[in-house]
Amino acid sequence: MKRKITKGGEEIEVIVACDSHSCELGEGPHWDPRVKRLYYVDILGKAVLSYCPNSGELVKYDVGSLVGCLAPSKNDPKVLVLGTQEGIQHLDVETGKVRMFIEYGEIEPDRPSNRFNHGKVDPKGRFWVGSMTSEENQIQRGVIFLVDEEGRFQREIELDITPKMWIGTVSTSSDEEEQRGSLYRIDTDGHWECVIQKVSISNGMAWSVDLKHYYYIDSLSYCVARYDFDEWSGKISNRHEVISIPNHWGVPAGMAIDSGGMLWVAIYSGHMVTQWDPHTGKCLLKVKIPCPYITNVCFGGEDLGTLYVTCAARRTNKENYPNAGSLFAIKNLGVKGVPMNNYG
Ligand code: BGC
Repeated sequence: MKRKITKGGEEIEVIVACDSHSCELGEGPHWDPRVKRLYYVDILGKAVLSYCPNSGELVKYDVGSLVGCLAPSKNDPKVLVLGTQEGIQHLDVETGKVRMFIEYGEIEPDRPSNRFNHGKVDPKGRFWVGSMTSEENQIQRGVIFLVDEEGRFQREIELDITPKMWIGTVSTSSDEEEQRGSLYRIDTDGHWECVIQKVSISNGMAWSVDLKHYYYIDSLSYCVARYDFDEWSGKISNRHEVISIPNHWGVPAGMAIDSGGMLWVAIYSGHMVTQWDPHTGKCLLKVKIPCPYITNVCFGGEDLGTLYVTCAARRTNKENYPNAGSLFAIKNLGVKGVPMNNYG
């Protein structure tokens, strides 16, 4: 399946890179140039996926718990560090064995129903990983219900079906109840620290090309926040909202930065990937993806010129979106990514 969009004479191509596994909730893409593979996870499928674009091979590792993110180890390319519902774990990609590094209960003893969502390694090898309340405990701020001809209520968030009647609800819960997640920094020696508290859905992150800033998305804040970043201590300070995403576009999720310092943000429930200038707050480009729930992006391929896109098949009408849950790739964007970092 191919879908082409033309912008300023350039032909941007959106392709299905891999459909051998349909992710219920894809996330955490990471390109490792040492092995020329794109790693990503299926959170609800409790699986880590390893895709080789040269051969088309996909290897699936069943890790047995909700896994939100991963980062390859700097010292050993066959070890992936995972953020799972059990904690921070190591996966050996040769044997498929998983072993515990830091128990979840050690980090969030009072939040047994949370799970790790997105995570990424900073330029000094520290793993930044955020938590959120797991889906079954998620308090919905507002849900749109479809009432069918028989008068039955069906929960539905996908908007492109012929509605009979839509009823929206709003949650009366306080923000405090919803913000049960946090962001953590796991240092290279395993020491960890909480860096941001009261997060709803800890999501996209990126470091500016000059390493002076850290960009962060708490999905339900509908914005990208910029912090001053001290690369030596790993401390962040001085929060500013630099991009605000209109609610009706969808929910901002994962993020990547290109070598020109522009941010690429996945829009969950918005069928698209967007490019933003963090200096002006302006949206520069929207690329439509044939799946409503886009979760994350990362640059990969040997020249870092391909933008890989993960998404979710859950809650999606497969007849309308047969490729929902696949790994997509956007080609010919005319930009390149910056290399991703490994843990350690
Ligand atoms: C999370 C989902 C969430 C979505 C939108 C993803 O990263 O895994 O649980 O609904 O972002 O914020």
